[in-house]
Amino acid sequence: QQIIGRLNHIAIAVPDLAVASARYRDLFGASVSEPEDLPAHGVRVVFVMLDNTKIELLAPLGGNSPIAGFLARNPGGGMHHLCFEVSDIISAAEKLAGQGARILGDGRPKTGAHGFPVLFLHPKDFDGVLIELEEVRR
Ligand code: CO
Repeated sequence: QQIIGRLNHIAIAVPDLAVASARYRDLFGASVSEPEDLPAHGVRVVFVMLDNTKIELLAPLGGNSPIAGFLARNPGGGMHHLCFEVSDIISAAEKLAGQGARILGDGRPKTGAHGFPVLFLHPKDFDGVLIELEEVRR
C-alpha cells in the first residue's frame, strides 16, 4: 500500500527572502505570495504557486530558527526538504517507524505551516534528504 501521495511542496532555504521572491516572480514570471511570518516555526515563508506543486522559500525568523544551522552550512541557500502528502499521518508514522525510519522530535505530528498535521523523517534514512509528511484530506 502506497503511503505517500502528491508532492505538496519543495522547500528551499534562502539567505534573502526578498531577493529570492523577486527572482521567481520577475525571472520566472511565477505567482509568488506575500511573505508570511510563522513564529511558531521560526521561519518567514513565501509560496511560489505552480500548477502541480508549490515551492516554499524559507528564511530564518527569530533567534532559534530550525533553518539557521542549515544556512550556516549552506550560506548561499539550498534545498531544505521535500513534503509528501499522506492521508493518515498517524498510520503513516506507525508504519514507517515500524520499518525503522526515524521520526524527528518526539515522533508525534505537529501543526505545520498550512495548519495541517506534519512530521519530519530523518535525512539519514532518506539518502540525505529531509522529508516532511503532511496530512492532507482531499
Ligand atoms: Co515544508
